[in-house]
Amino acid sequence: MERLDKVLSNLGYGTRKEVKAIIKNGEVLVDAIEARDNGMLINPETSVIKIFGEEIKFRKNIYLMMNKPDGVISATFDDYDETVIDLLEEEHKVFNPFPVGRLDKDTVGLLFITNDGELNHRLISPKYHVDKVYFARIDKKVCEEDIIAFNNGIVLDDGYKCMPGKLEIVKSDENGSEVYITIHEGKFHQVKRMFESLNKNVIYLKRVKFGKICLDIKLSEGEYRELSKEELKILCQI
Ligand code: URA
Repeated sequence: MERLDKVLSNLGYGTRKEVKAIIKNGEVLVDAIEARDNGMLINPETSVIKIFGEEIKFRKNIYLMMNKPDGVISATFDDYDETVIDLLEEEHKVFNPFPVGRLDKDTVGLLFITNDGELNHRLISPKYHVDKVYFARIDKKVCEEDIIAFNNGIVLDDGYKCMPGKLEIVKSDENGSEVYITIHEGKFHQVKRMFESLNKNVIYLKRVKFGKICLDIKLSEGEYRELSKEELKILCQI
């Protein structure tokens, strides 16, 4: 059970003080009865709450897919930089969501944002080996030996041997290359460091797929949407 004013405030209907005034004005119905006590205890899962005549759709968790833009960091708060959470509407911020794993500041593409700690844990845990697919532009020619090196498991600068990854070449010549990389881990700067081990540099990196979910091509950089029921079901099967 939770306090009515806390529930409404968390849902973005105002500060506790503002919500108290709304309740005092008789604008809130709990199970069809006018609420007068802002400290009233309700069960948000089962009580039918109406505010200004509209029924509240209470839910505990939100699940968002963002096309993360360049220059924004994958964190909930930062003293200097804009975060992915800063890009959310208030109606989503009130759920206190956080990004699932991290993309570098200059990496763009698919990022899940949720307040579901359990799902987050499963998606980022190395135990589950969730596939992540990236599209990358590389500053040099990528060739067959690089595909083999990825397949064998690249050794990073700190001596860590990556799990086998898949490298697919879209195009490649002396001016540079475009590739898709599939990896199952999420080490710090992993894709960039894998290419550095091959004496090549990633100049553009975009995550296009996480598990079985692809980035919605209708989302421009910086845009986001809620996951569909079907997408969520697929994600929860991991
Ligand atoms: N690998 C990287 O190097 N950077 C990312 O943001 C994600 C994977």
